[in-house]
Amino acid sequence: MTLLRLQHIMTSEISKRPFLSRPPEPPAEVLVNDPLQSLFIGITKIFHVPFSWTFANLTNPHISVVGITGAGKSYFVKTLLLRASYIWNTNAVIIDWAGEYKAWVKQTGGVVISFSKGDYLNIMDLSGMKPLDRVKQIMNSFEILTDIATYPEQRRLTEEAIEQSYVNAGFILSEKAPEGKEAPTLKSVISLLEEKLQEGTYEYPAELENTIYRLRQFAREGEDYFARKSTLDIGRLAESGLVDMDLSGLPDERFRALGALFILQTLKEKMRSEGFSEIKGLKAIVVLDEAWKVASDEKSDAITIVREGRKYQFALIVASQNPTDINEAIFSNVGTSFILRIKFEKFLNYLQGSLNFSDFIRTEISKFGVGQAAVQMAFQTAIRFPETFMLERIHGEEPLYVYTVDFSDILTQSELSAGLIQKDYQFEKEELKNKFIDFDISSEGIEELFSKMDGQGRYIKVIDFVRELKAREVQTSVIVSFLKSLSLDDSIITRLVQRAGAD
Ligand SMILES: Nc1ncnc2c1ncn2[C@@H]1O[C@H](COP(=O)(O)OP(=O)(O)OP(=O)(O)O)[C@@H](O)[C@H]1O
Ligand SMILES: [Mg+2]
Repeated sequence: MTLLRLQHIMTSEISKRPFLSRPPEPPAEVLVNDPLQSLFIGITKIFHVPFSWTFANLTNPHISVVGITGAGKSYFVKTLLLRASYIWNTNAVIIDWAGEYKAWVKQTGGVVISFSKGDYLNIMDLSGMKPLDRVKQIMNSFEILTDIATYPEQRRLTEEAIEQSYVNAGFILSEKAPEGKEAPTLKSVISLLEEKLQEGTYEYPAELENTIYRLRQFAREGEDYFARKSTLDIGRLAESGLVDMDLSGLPDERFRALGALFILQTLKEKMRSEGFSEIKGLKAIVVLDEAWKVASDEKSDAITIVREGRKYQFALIVASQNPTDINEAIFSNVGTSFILRIKFEKFLNYLQGSLNFSDFIRTEISKFGVGQAAVQMAFQTAIRFPETFMLERIHGEEPLYVYTVDFSDILTQSELSAGLIQKDYQFEKEELKNKFIDFDISSEGIEELFSKMDGQGRYIKVIDFVRELKAREVQTSVIVSFLKSLSLDDSIITRLVQRAGAD
């Protein structure tokens, strides 16, 4: 009996020990890698180790990046793409929903492909594929973007008409077409269906009409971006250095998603047909930034790229403000997650549930400043160190100007000593400037505000800050909602607004 009990105590003691002595960061040999075969990202927060990223020991090269607006997601993506191109000569394709990478890509000497009036991408183009495979892909996109899956007869009619269009244009469905042979377009598919309707022999004319109606949405005059002969060449997309596919000129989200899905399908095909190679590093990186429809749907090729990308040295980077917009199959399978500032409890819950980091890290994430990040990597072999660690900040090429708004003057002694309330908040210059613009402050007013803060070492007391805003006719309700966005208690906000108004 005694022996057993002793043993019990001993095992439980021992099992505690590795926990107590467990270092809060992975060991340096994991974080520090050959500078010629890895990408420097930043210095770790606790032991100040220079962390450079490589996927050599990870389950795959894919990356997810999450964080609130202004947290530094796009900045991180840009930094990573540049370094991958220096180190590995990696090509990159950015599927640019809002056109936010355009200026930067131009600046760095990359290629911008924009949709504007007169640019077309024929979604029936084959770029080396068999027509049958392309038909499947097109149907797949329609299933993601329209209600076609719920109407089997209309689905069948659509698929048959697409196949028939290829046949009419002289293609053999199950064979790769010779290079240069011109593909039919969605317009020819619609014409086929219209002829069928006119013949009047088809049993369910209403089904036929609805089928035509659905396809016409993508082929209307002026909105036929994907229904005409291509003017944009995307065949060499994955081998042209840095390419920005700017989708911001398309009329709405559905068009953007159709374009994004088509590009992903083409890239996936490219990846498979190029096969394996012996090179180190990555051949290509595909970036999906805020493309939630494309990142969230089961049937999207984003998921195929995540499943198969490693062996082809193709990486996917998915960035989003909302982690729940990223499909579980992507989110839980990426080799590396970068978590920048996240404020919403429900997102923190989701992240903590799926990545399993400590409450300490959770609290830190909610307080991160611009560019600060927690990193989690999934290693191929079992490990005995914490998988999540923090970076002081992502170390990019551009300087960071941080402004501090100090709250300590308006906090009570007990609030201060309880240590539960943040004493100051940091804002990056651009971020703060964008807020001022949102507040409708004139550009001279913004200049004045910055020179005032610059004169105090990029620092301002919150009471002065609120007074400056009021002096520039920012409404109290606007100031209050700004303060709320910092997750401040109502009692503190009331106190602050009263005091700022007092004299
Ligand atoms: N690590 C960093 N070092 C220096 N500056 C940074 C860093 N991260 C972000 N910034 C700056 O902060 C601002 C916001 O960053 P960024 O545009 O990357 O945010 P985001 O997370 O992509 O926001 P959104 O969701 O609105 O697109 C930019 O001006 C950027 O230059
Ligand atoms: Mg961004």
